Amino acid sequence: MSDILARITDRTAVVGIIGQGYVGLPLALVFEEAGFPVLGFDVDPAKIAALTRGESYIKHIGSARVKSAVERGKFDVTTDFDRLRECDAILICVPTPLGKHREPDLSYIHNTAREIAARLRKGQLVVLESTTYPGTTDEEVLPLLEASGLKCPEDFLLAFSPEREDPGNAHFNTKTIPKVVGGINAPSTEAAVALYAAGVDKVVPVSSARVAESCKLLENVYRSINIALVNELKVTFDRMGINVWEVIEAAKTKPFGFTPFYPGPGLGGHCIPLDPFYLSWKASEHGMWTRFIELAGEINTSMPRYVVSKVADALNDVQKSVKGSKILVLGLSYKENIDDDRESPSYELIELLQDKGALVDYCDPYFPVARHGRRHSLDLSSVPCDNATFRGYDALLVSTAHAQFKDAALYKGVALVVDTRNIVHASNEGPMTVVRA
Ligand SMILES: NC(=O)c1ccc[n+]([C@@H]2O[C@H](COP(=O)([O-])OP(=O)(O)OC[C@H]3O[C@@H](n4cnc5c(N)ncnc54)[C@H](O)[C@@H]3O)[C@@H](O)[C@H]2O)c1
Repeated sequence: MSDILARITDRTAVVGIIGQGYVGLPLALVFEEAGFPVLGFDVDPAKIAALTRGESYIKHIGSARVKSAVERGKFDVTTDFDRLRECDAILICVPTPLGKHREPDLSYIHNTAREIAARLRKGQLVVLESTTYPGTTDEEVLPLLEASGLKCPEDFLLAFSPEREDPGNAHFNTKTIPKVVGGINAPSTEAAVALYAAGVDKVVPVSSARVAESCKLLENVYRSINIALVNELKVTFDRMGINVWEVIEAAKTKPFGFTPFYPGPGLGGHCIPLDPFYLSWKASEHGMWTRFIELAGEINTSMPRYVVSKVADALNDVQKSVKGSKILVLGLSYKENIDDDRESPSYELIELLQDKGALVDYCDPYFPVARHGRRHSLDLSSVPCDNATFRGYDALLVSTAHAQFKDAALYKGVALVVDTRNIVHASNEGPMTVVRA
C-alpha cells in the first residue's frame, strides 16, 4: 500500500470520480486544482459532452472553472468504465434516492460497485461518498468488490467519506469544508485520509466507515428535526397571532446554546427530505424505531398542504375561491439563489393548487422552463419577474427566497402575497395584503 501513498504524495495518483453531479463535479475540480490527474465518469453522455467542451451544467460551479481544468489537460471525462483501470483512487458519487415506499434505493451503488469489481486491480483505493445508512460500505460494497477475487486490505482499500455541500454558500466550498473519513480497516483509513488531505483543508479521521456513514446521517437528521420544530412552532404561533420570524430573530441574539432554523413550505433538496429515512429503515432491522425522524418527516411533509390552506383562507378573506383564481408561485428551486429544484416543495404546491382548480403559473429566473422530474412533470415555463406581470394575479405565493424576489417595487399594487420565506412586507409601496404561511 506504500505505492498509493507515494503516488498521493507526489500527485501522480489518478483520481477517478464516478458520478459528475452536484457532488462529483466539484470534488473532481478540487483534486484537479490540487495537482492530481482526474478522470470523471458518468453514465449521462450529455454531461460528459458538456464537460469536454469546458461547460458546467451547475450554475454555482460555473463554466470558467471547468474550462480551466480541461485546458490544463489533467481533467478528462468519459462514459467508458474500462478506464477505471487507469485510476489509483476511485470515489463513488452516485445518487441514493428512496424507492416508492421510502426504502433506500441502493441500485446505483450496487451497479457502480459491480462496474468497479469487473476492473478492480491491486493497489486501488475505493471510497464511497454517496449518503447511505451505516453498514453500506462493509455489507454492500465490500462483498461486491471482493467478488472480483481481490481482498481488502491485502489487495485493495475501501473507505467511506460523506460529502458536505451547501450550494451557494459564499463562505464554504468543497475545499474548505472539513472531510470526515473512515475506512473499513486501518490501512484503508490511512490511504483515504492521505488522499483527501492532499485535496481539502481539513480531514477528520474516524475509526470506521460505519461512524463516517452515521456522521452524515446525524447531520441531516439534526437539520430535518430542527426544521420540523420551527415548522410546528410556525403553525402554533400563527394560531396565537405571533410572528415566528420575529421570535427566531429575537432568540438568535442568545450568544450560546441556540442555532436558528427557519420555517418554510416544506423540505427540499437531495439530502434532508431523504437521508433520515435511510437511517430509520436500517434501524428497524435492529428493532429500533426512530420516532424523532418519523415525526419530523410527518410535520415537514405536511407543510405544503398547510401553505395551500393559508392561500385558500387568504383568498376567502377577499371573497375569492382557490378555484378559478390566478396564482403565481415564486421560485421552483428548493433553496434561494441556486438552480437546484430536486424535491422542491414548489412542485407540490403548484400541483395542490391546480388540483383545487387554481390557474397556476410560476416565476423563477433559474428555471426558464420547468424540468420534468421523476415525480412531477409540469408543462409550464417561467413568467417574467416584473411588477406588471405580478399585478395580473389574484395571489402570489413566495416559495423560494431568491434575491430577485426581494425588490419591494415588484409588489407595488399586488393584491395579495402569501409568503413562506418572510421576504415581502406590507407597505404603501408594496402589496395590499401579506400573509405569512
Ligand atoms: N447535492 C448535495 O448537495 C449533496 C450533499 C451531500 C451528499 N450528497 C449525496 O451525494 C450523492 C450524489 O448526489 P448528487 O447531488 O451529486 O447527485 P446528482 O444526481 O447531481 O449526480 C449524480 C450523477 O451520477 C450519475 N450517475 C448515475 N448513475 C451512475 C452510474 N451507475 N455510474 C456513473 N454515474 C452515474 C448521474 O448521471 C449524475 O450525473 C447522493 O448520495 C447524495 O445523497 C449530495
